[in-house]
Amino acid sequence: MTVKQHTPSNFHVWFDYETIKKRNAELGEEISKFYNENYPGEDVLCVGLLRGAVYFLVDLTREMSVPLTVDFMTVSSYGSGTESTLNVKILKDLDTDIAGKNVLIIEDIIDTGHTLHKVRKMLLDRNPKSLHIVTCCDKPERRLVEVPVDWVGFEVENKFTVGYGFEVDQKFRNVTAIGYCED
Ligand code: PRP
Repeated sequence: MTVKQHTPSNFHVWFDYETIKKRNAELGEEISKFYNENYPGEDVLCVGLLRGAVYFLVDLTREMSVPLTVDFMTVSSYGSGTESTLNVKILKDLDTDIAGKNVLIIEDIIDTGHTLHKVRKMLLDRNPKSLHIVTCCDKPERRLVEVPVDWVGFEVENKFTVGYGFEVDQKFRNVTAIGYCED
C-alpha cells in the first residue's frame, strides 16, 4: 500500500486514510452519543496535546455533532522509569479556564501512559465538570501506568509508529496513513 506523501524508506502501512476516516466517524458518533446522553446541550472542550494529536483532533472533531470548542497544550516528559521519577512539564498551557467544563482530552497515542496520567491529574486539579480521554492509537504492551481511556481508535503493536501525527525527527506527521518503521 502506498501513500502520496514522502515517507521513510522502511515505512509500512497499518491503516490507510480511508480506514482511519471510517474509524473516526464511528468514534465521533459514539462520543457525541455519550455527551448527548450525559450532558445534553452542553459544550465539550476538546483539548489536543501538541503536536502529535493535531491531525486526529481536526478529523475527529469534524465527526462530532455536539457543540464544542478546541484548545491545545504542549507538555514535555523527561526522566524515565517509575511514575515518581518521570516529570511532565507544561510548555504551553491551555488558554481556557476548564473549571466546570466538560473536557475531552484528544491524544494521538498512549504508550507508557506517563504523559496522560500526569496531564489528567493536572487537569482534574482545575475542577472540570467532567474529564474523558480519547486516543487515536493505543500501545498496551508498553503500558507502565494505567490511564482510564474512554475511547480508542486503534490498538497497535509495539513498533515505531509513523504518520497521521507520528514523527521521525519531527518529519512525516503529514503522512495520511498510520504505519510503522522497521528497525
Ligand atoms: C508522544 C505522544 C504522547 C506521548 C505518549 O508525545 O504524542 O503524548 O508521547 O507517550 P507515553 O504514554 O509514554 O507518555 P511526544 O512527546 O513524542 O510529542 P509529540 O506529540 O509532539 O509527538
